Amino acid sequence: MIRLNVNGRSHDIDAAPDTALLYVLRNDLKLNGPKYGCGLGECGTCTVLIDGVAARSCVIPIEGCAGRDIVTLEGLGSRERPDPVQAAFIQEQAAQCGYCLNGMIMSTKALLLRSPHPTEAEVLEALRYNLCRCGAHIEILRAAMRAAGHLAEAEG
Ligand code: FES
Repeated sequence: MIRLNVNGRSHDIDAAPDTALLYVLRNDLKLNGPKYGCGLGECGTCTVLIDGVAARSCVIPIEGCAGRDIVTLEGLGSRERPDPVQAAFIQEQAAQCGYCLNGMIMSTKALLLRSPHPTEAEVLEALRYNLCRCGAHIEILRAAMRAAGHLAEAEG
């Protein structure tokens, strides 16, 4: 049994210690914000925050997560009260199929936690390894820049 702290709540998980965190989040806790893409730590769509740092949950065994603060997309905000990063992505309509969106939002959030006013170069670097196959990159960058406070409300 491994105790995980997810979105501020404790969960006792009965799974093998080497089970990937993503499977526990999706299958046991029914948190489907993080997505399964490559399963290899390469696409970023499974990203969560662990102790405030972006982490690829498909390659992280749960044994390394005990006692740490895990936040998923669901833990950022709600439909009624979205996190500012979620609100920025909604405002920019920064998605096409939406599959990458979890990773884009969580990686942007992690960036803003460590650097509240990042430059565009820092935003690009933070999202560099999150893959989007639709080509929504322009809107995603605008959303991340909006979340970082670079776009005035008047812009749109
Ligand atoms: Fe985890 Fe692709 S599913 S990085």
